[in-house]
Amino acid sequence: MPSLLRSSALAVLAAAVLPAALAQETVVGSWTTVTKNCGVVPVHALYSPGDKIFFTERLHLLGTLNDGFSAAELTARAATGFYNQNPNAVKEKFLTDSAEFDLNTNQFKLTENLMPLAEPIGKNQGYAFCSGHAQMADGRYLSVGGDAFWGVPFNGANRTSDGRRDIRVMTPSAGAAPATFVKVADINNVDNLGPDDPRRALWGRWYPSVLTLPNEDVMIIGGQRAFFVPDNVTWDNPTYEIYHPKTQVSDTPVRVKVLADNYPVNMYPVVYVLPKSGNLWTYANNASAILNVQTKTETPSVGLDLSKEDGLLGRSFPFAGTNFLPMLTLKDDYKMTSWFCGGVNGTAANGLPTPRAYNAPQWWANCPDCAPTARCNYLELETEGAAWMREEMPIARSQPTAVNLPDGTIGIFSGSGKGHQGGVYGLPVSTVDVKEVVIFNPFAPKNHPSRWVTAAAAPTGRHYHNIALLREDGTVVTGGGDAQNGVNPNTDDPADMTLDVYSPPYKFATNIPELAPLAVKDVTYGQLIVVPFTTDVAQNITRVGIIRYASVTHTVNLDQRHIELEIVKYAANKLLVRLPAKPEIATPGNWMVWPVDSRGVPVKRSALINIRASNPGGDAVWTEAETIPTPVFRDPFAPVVAEPPAPAASQAADAKNSASGAASGWSAAAAAAAGLAVAVAGGIA
Ligand SMILES: *[C@@H]1O[C@H](CO)[C@@H](O)[C@H](O)[C@H]1NC(C)=O
Ligand SMILES: *[C@@H]1O[C@H](CO)[C@@H](O)[C@H](O)[C@H]1NC(C)=O
Ligand SMILES: *[C@@H]1O[C@H](CO)[C@@H](O)[C@H](O)[C@H]1NC(C)=O
Ligand SMILES: *[C@@H]1O[C@H](CO)[C@@H](O)[C@H](O)[C@H]1NC(C)=O
Ligand SMILES: *[C@@H]1O[C@H](CO)[C@@H](O)[C@H](O)[C@H]1NC(C)=O
Repeated sequence: MPSLLRSSALAVLAAAVLPAALAQETVVGSWTTVTKNCGVVPVHALYSPGDKIFFTERLHLLGTLNDGFSAAELTARAATGFYNQNPNAVKEKFLTDSAEFDLNTNQFKLTENLMPLAEPIGKNQGYAFCSGHAQMADGRYLSVGGDAFWGVPFNGANRTSDGRRDIRVMTPSAGAAPATFVKVADINNVDNLGPDDPRRALWGRWYPSVLTLPNEDVMIIGGQRAFFVPDNVTWDNPTYEIYHPKTQVSDTPVRVKVLADNYPVNMYPVVYVLPKSGNLWTYANNASAILNVQTKTETPSVGLDLSKEDGLLGRSFPFAGTNFLPMLTLKDDYKMTSWFCGGVNGTAANGLPTPRAYNAPQWWANCPDCAPTARCNYLELETEGAAWMREEMPIARSQPTAVNLPDGTIGIFSGSGKGHQGGVYGLPVSTVDVKEVVIFNPFAPKNHPSRWVTAAAAPTGRHYHNIALLREDGTVVTGGGDAQNGVNPNTDDPADMTLDVYSPPYKFATNIPELAPLAVKDVTYGQLIVVPFTTDVAQNITRVGIIRYASVTHTVNLDQRHIELEIVKYAANKLLVRLPAKPEIATPGNWMVWPVDSRGVPVKRSALINIRASNPGGDAVWTEAETIPTPVFRDPFAPVVAEPPAPAASQAADAKNSASGAASGWSAAAAAAAGLAVAVAGGIA
């Protein structure tokens, strides 16, 4: 541990103040592998309170001649022992694609026996691989669509299930009651077909997106009707339908022009609730639009002109670019900025299109030799006249996964140094591990050394199908990666069920503030709550943010959202904090409460709140006599204008130097980098 502390401390110091050459020699944060067997291959990951994570997998099988393998290849694959049915399912004697993993105990429990025997529309959930998912207002997750799965024998019987039409609910475990994953409805039948109509085969959502709306309904949007048939638009499903969790039905689908226009690069469309209007911003390939679900209208939004992006391919799946939204701050009036980072460069060094697999002529065809890109593109939403901007990451990669960290930075995890996702089971399309974390501080000025920091390398390379999620203790869990598409069947384990955990630098600070239990969990919009600490640290807290519990798959995390709260009053050991005024800002559901101190160090563990308009509410009682003066914090990135003050006078001088002043005026998330370096280094000395 001491050496770990030392390297972390040096690393942060390096990131903040040392020349780049020196910074490269240090390690920022650290990794551990927490399990080698998390139950199923984590392709889809849904995080719940109590540090529980629900996974669904792509069943890993030998494959057949029909999958494009030669007999010799199948023999070679069989010899590796990798391409067998999940040994956990074999042991439990039932077939499933899902498990809940408890990160407290590092134990998994398979979700029992939900893959049904052959039947056209099962009551049980079908194969959830390729589904979309979102946390609902009550904290359960809705999982929609998926894939078909034909003729897979298990214990002597063919198990067949088709998840492409399923709407299912994942309820996390509670005490002795295990997690459940249950089909509750079919998606809306666009063609109004009867249950036995053979055309039902063209009815589904494969790679849809799902998002909870301010009124607690859930939007199910896009995907393809059955499978990837990129050259036949009959298979497209460029629509959204609104699902009502209370009645378990969804409305007639509404056509989405921006998705139709961008077929076939319209899978897992990115969609966000806009904080001001409550409309939806959606993006596919190079185009975006604003959807109004009340009027069922669509307005084009700003497109990204790829002809000016140096050979970049579309920013959404399958040329993904991971999506994220930096924290919405009070100072910026909750302005939302949509980012894509990384992705695929379709142009070779000779300036011609990089040859696609099998020399396919289509620009969107699989490109196992395509270079990755370091490029990010971002657009301020609900901002008159906004245009797409660009910036480069320090490392190029395709299919990374971005995670909002509680200090306001964004961690970029995993991904490939060559090729991109897509492709048929067993065929190589993405290779070359990119293991280093990159930490992006959107609050540091451009070209400031702490704006992009290259951090510790992960123990496991993770490509297509990797997952990364923020945990309640501020660490990040990663898993998955599709070695099923690996180049080397002798070494790429398609059943990789390891989970790694990354501890960012703030986990190594000294005197990390700790939360005391909150008096309320179920809260409502605009409500005042007390955020209590175990000791008198409140005067050092610059900011309280909330981060939504999230789910992730295929580089896309639409749940993730980070909102700054207004700090109304300070006492020695607690804060009075106001929750966002409306669900357009903080969509209903479970959120983590994250106070952060002036060094940029978040509390040891977040607190859980569930925000819904229907929760009881009632402002917290605050004893006025306990109020202390609101401290004033300096913007760590503000230019230094005067001689540094003498150490003893520094607090007062800091207060003076700050023009913006207010406690809520924190404006430089992990700018903290500088402060943390000093604090941690001090801890070592
Ligand atoms: C299972 O399905 C496969 C393909 O659909 C078929 O070839 C096989 O005979 C079936 N096996 C059993 C035991 O029914
Ligand atoms: C597209 O797919 C549909 C459904 O399978 C099929 O009926 C139609 O002939 C296909 N069209 C083309 C041009 O291949
Ligand atoms: C997006 O791509 C399509 C298809 O290549 C093209 O027709 C369109 O002009 C592009 N739009 C922008 C904004 O670049
Ligand atoms: C794509 O690759 C070409 C050739 O190496 C390079 O000139 C271009 O800058 C790259 N573009 C991006 C966006 O990475
Ligand atoms: C507040 O922060 C200052 C500067 O980092 C530190 O010296 C002090 O001990 C902190 N106070 C508390 C109560 O944590």
